[in-house]
Amino acid sequence: MNIVITGANRGLGLGFVRHYLEQGHDVWACYRSSLVGLNEIQHKQLHTVQLDVSQDFIAADLDLPERIDVLINNAGIYGPYGEQDLASMTSAAMLDVFNVDCIGPLRVVQQLQSRLIKAGGTIANISSKMGSSGDNGSGGTYAYRAAKAGLIIISKSMAIDLKPLGVAVITLHPGWVSTDMARQSGLIDVQTSVAGMVQVMGHIHDYDVGAFVAFDGQVIAF
Ligand SMILES: NC(=O)c1ccc[n+]([C@@H]2O[C@H](COP(=O)([O-])OP(=O)(O)OC[C@H]3O[C@@H](n4cnc5c(N)ncnc54)[C@H](OP(=O)(O)O)[C@@H]3O)[C@@H](O)[C@H]2O)c1
Repeated sequence: MNIVITGANRGLGLGFVRHYLEQGHDVWACYRSSLVGLNEIQHKQLHTVQLDVSQDFIAADLDLPERIDVLINNAGIYGPYGEQDLASMTSAAMLDVFNVDCIGPLRVVQQLQSRLIKAGGTIANISSKMGSSGDNGSGGTYAYRAAKAGLIIISKSMAIDLKPLGVAVITLHPGWVSTDMARQSGLIDVQTSVAGMVQVMGHIHDYDVGAFVAFDGQVIAF
């Protein structure tokens, strides 16, 4: 299969790259500006592509496959740590996080949808339980919560719009994973999260269209 992953140079994105290469697939690993962890992998089925999801782009300008079986919209930012409460949240930070976490996956799908349709492919949008209104018991974290909530809604529309065209879309919560974003203090490691999310994607048709599902298969209300 041809797999495209955004934000693939570290953290969960790099975990997805390793997983799919081990399974024998061709992987197009997209990175914002630095290859970092991708430099450690020597594999003939690994292709690296510079792609900053915060910017508009044209797919034809990038070295991506004509048929895409799986797209993982993984790239994301948390925004300023300790400055997302009601008093300190700035408009600029809100817009930055929204641009990457919410509009980023939309940009990518707009550009790559025809290639996913050709393959009858699958899209996984990586959101967060932090974007669930029902799960919000502690308030705060305005930018990250709002952007990830927006992504869940956008992802559901994509799921509805692309289903008749043969493309399945799911929104995923990776769990609390030890990556840079979680300051390496998550509850699970990258391998556990990635293996779980891949398993969920393998059962995508068992879930409602546009469902929001955690790495352990549990459906999350949003
Ligand atoms: N870790 C968790 O517990 C957790 C929980 C819920 C959801 N998530 C979500 O899971 C996804 C992956 O997170 P992670 O934990 O692996 O975080 P991470 O270690 O901080 O990695 C984030 C990745 O996104 C990339 N990225 C950021 N801005 C980008 C842009 N404008 N264009 C392209 N790539 C960009 C980063 O690239 P650079 O190296 O260039 O910055 C990096 O590769 C994110 O969407 C995150 O919100 C994570």
